[in-house]
Amino acid sequence: NGDFTTAVAGKLTMATNAAFPPYEYVEGGQITGIDAEIAAAIAEKLGLELQIDDMEFDSITETVKGGKADIGLAGMTVTPDRQEEVDFTVSYATGIQVVIVTEDSTITSVDDLFADNASHVIGVQRNTTGDIFATDDIESEGKGTVDRYSKGADAVQALKTGKVDCVIIDNEPAKAFVAEVEGLKILDTEYAVEDYAAAMSKENPALYEAVNTALQELIDDGTIQGIIDKYINA
Ligand code: ARG
Repeated sequence: NGDFTTAVAGKLTMATNAAFPPYEYVEGGQITGIDAEIAAAIAEKLGLELQIDDMEFDSITETVKGGKADIGLAGMTVTPDRQEEVDFTVSYATGIQVVIVTEDSTITSVDDLFADNASHVIGVQRNTTGDIFATDDIESEGKGTVDRYSKGADAVQALKTGKVDCVIIDNEPAKAFVAEVEGLKILDTEYAVEDYAAAMSKENPALYEAVNTALQELIDDGTIQGIIDKYINA
């Protein structure tokens, strides 16, 4: 403790995209959710004050890499490409990519998106793994096109208004969005299972060590599961 430096002295600065319930969202003008509480618990262990910077999802990695934020915490999936840019802490949660459709959709399983004659318009949040899957596995194969939105909720609205045929997104925000918009459902078959972790700069190993150790302790003593259960299994 004490021999690391942070972006702003005395603070742990978290970069996030607060449009991803229940991991991070705005409620009563405050950013709240699982990731916000995890960051607060890490900050407390390190004797730092938590500051949360809200931004586009696809700015988080750059912000962390450039040292403008200490930690990217945003339900972010560990991927090999991202690991070239940033270091990830231990994983603190699992995410599942699911497909949202309208209740009367002709898409009844994930396989329908890969059918030989498929040509769906797929809505995603820009630069998320949902975007990467849809782009690499479907659009690049000539089996549809991808519409990229700055927020997952905007992709879901586009589904509601018929601009896209489905949305590929993480299961927990999917549940939250489907609960708010009538006439939508989540397909039973899952697209992919992923690990969420915090992104950190490769250039600040002392801070990485401190944060990763704090997070591991919070996992081991059940604090993280307690936070997740408050939002998910309640
Ligand atoms: N898990 C997905 C990814 O890493 C989506 C994360 C989106 N997070 C957010 N706060 N908007 O690409």
